[in-house]
Amino acid sequence: MSLASRTLHPRKLSGFIGVEFDDVDLGDLNDHDFAQIKDALLEHGVVIFHHQDLSSAAHKAFGERFGPLHTHPAAQGVEGHPEILLLRNRGKERTITEVWHSDVTCEQRPPSVSILHARVLPECGGDTMWANQYLAYERLSEGLKQMLEGMRAVHSAFGLEAVHPVIRTHPESGRRALFVNAGFTRRFDGISTAESAPLLKMLIEHATQPDLCYRHRWSPGDIAMWDNRGVMHFAVHDYGDQEREMHRVTVQGDEPR
Ligand code: SIN
Repeated sequence: MSLASRTLHPRKLSGFIGVEFDDVDLGDLNDHDFAQIKDALLEHGVVIFHHQDLSSAAHKAFGERFGPLHTHPAAQGVEGHPEILLLRNRGKERTITEVWHSDVTCEQRPPSVSILHARVLPECGGDTMWANQYLAYERLSEGLKQMLEGMRAVHSAFGLEAVHPVIRTHPESGRRALFVNAGFTRRFDGISTAESAPLLKMLIEHATQPDLCYRHRWSPGDIAMWDNRGVMHFAVHDYGDQEREMHRVTVQGDEPR
């Protein structure tokens, strides 16, 4: 079979979230393989690739296949590539990613897809976890689903603020997902921070039950890609002062609806 028409076989990484692909070179990807990878992302929320030797230009080019790239409003980019976010060990107390979040939801149009490349890893630790927010939504009781249906939540950080629906509909697949997170969501619209806190806490605990999660142990050259419209993630900081450097490309998303 020619490479142009082969069928890729993603391998599941856990019961409800994540797949990995072998035999894929993201720097040299034909349209047929890309379409299968995109389908896997929409279905499984997280996709892992191994042994990727991607330059910054190739990393961005892969991201651009999903749409125009997003640039982080506040954090530093890789030199010469402002669209590639540089994530380095900043010490546990200063890290901003060790919290359940979807990327940059303080923006009106937060990123749709994120593509994270492991550049420098600690000897051990520094895993990343993701949680399936479609299932988190489906597992709510009908009464709570109805209550949350019309609700919106205020997300803020970096001097930016946006109000998004608590339940969002994926613009491509039509799937519904819970869309609040511990990193950016401050309160429900029209409800005080103190009044919002218990429900927010309950929803985030509900949304990160262990069987909704996949935890990735990184190897050099791994790439993880996820769909912020249907999963949350959490970067575990258990590696003290050791170096960890990750490069992240994000794709501009739509306004959540
Ligand atoms: C992120 O939150 O986007 C980064 C995750 C990580 O560094 O593992």
